[in-house]
Amino acid sequence: MTILGIESSCDETAAGVVRNGDDGLTLLSSVVSSSMDLHAKYGGVIPEIAARSHIEAIMPVIQQALDDAGCTWDDIDGIAVTQGAGLIGSLLIGVLAARTLAIAKKKPLYAINHVEAHLYVNFITESKVENIQPRSTQPEFPMLGVIVSGGHSQLVYFKDHFDYTLLGQTQDDAIGEAYDKVAKVLGLPYPGGVSVSRLAETGNEAAYPLPKARMSGKYDFSFSGVKTAVLRLAQELAGKDHSFPSFELAALLSDAQKADIAASFAFTACETIVDKVRLAYDEFQPKSIVIGGGVAADRELRRQLAERLPLALEYPAMKLCGDNGAMVAALGCFKAMRGADPADPYTLEVMPNLSM
Ligand code: KG4
Ligand code: ZN
Repeated sequence: MTILGIESSCDETAAGVVRNGDDGLTLLSSVVSSSMDLHAKYGGVIPEIAARSHIEAIMPVIQQALDDAGCTWDDIDGIAVTQGAGLIGSLLIGVLAARTLAIAKKKPLYAINHVEAHLYVNFITESKVENIQPRSTQPEFPMLGVIVSGGHSQLVYFKDHFDYTLLGQTQDDAIGEAYDKVAKVLGLPYPGGVSVSRLAETGNEAAYPLPKARMSGKYDFSFSGVKTAVLRLAQELAGKDHSFPSFELAALLSDAQKADIAASFAFTACETIVDKVRLAYDEFQPKSIVIGGGVAADRELRRQLAERLPLALEYPAMKLCGDNGAMVAALGCFKAMRGADPADPYTLEVMPNLSM
């Protein structure tokens, strides 16, 4: 079974090819073209620019993914595409391309939930792609899934493939979104999460104790409180009140203060996640825990998970933590192997608010 995956939910136009092997999935290619540079001067993704960039990139990216995989259309058994969640204009380009190709090339089409796909990238255990080192073993069920991306922060308990329960999720900002907002306060370059993560490694995490929200849902999260606490802290250190423009605060902070704020924030944000992961581990005793989403690349998160959990965690390759087509192909491959009904290529619609 060889599946082409297409992803276009945000600012990355991506395609990847995955094949099922004896034990786990093999990555044959992963091509990611980002319009990030075009959004940088605005400090965030501009949906119209992202959608227009997808139009230009989508066919070359798909062709490159096939070429890199050494595949022709004859080798492809199905097409998987992100149906949601995401930006409507961005999703439309990937879905329309996939629908058209499914009809023209007579391939079954699989509609993919982006968030679920972030977890399924963990089933890739072999790679023919240079620079992408996958996990060594497949996750086992029951499995606890931890999604930490720019749009989602969720804990999901999987009894088996496609048989899962959403345990809890953020009630306000996603963790990646909080990283990005803290980056703005600290005057760090876009994309902010990576910058905060790097700077945090040089700071003192105990410098500024920050609050963790108490939630009514046992497995729910909140990140808006810690994000606001960072803003108030920066104002206090800069000697300004809340009426002072937040984008001018960074200039009044020393490098050491910025590093300490980044470290204190990363520590608290990650602890918020890890507290609940540990709680869920104790309650459900999963055989494996899988992490997905851009913040899975964060070192502080990995450090705390290693410290607090009794089982060793494996991570997807760094390049597969952010948005990519391989994760979509990976989930599509399981759908195809398990006989899931393909979508109708004449009618498949995007679902911007699709949840798990
Ligand atoms: O999964 P992803 O690529 O896109 C979404 O589906 O949202 O996640 C992007 C998020 C952004 O908020 C970005 O700032 C954050 O992941 N991120 C990181 C790191 N790399 C990306 N956050 C913390 N540490 C990182 N190394
Ligand atoms: Zn994502």
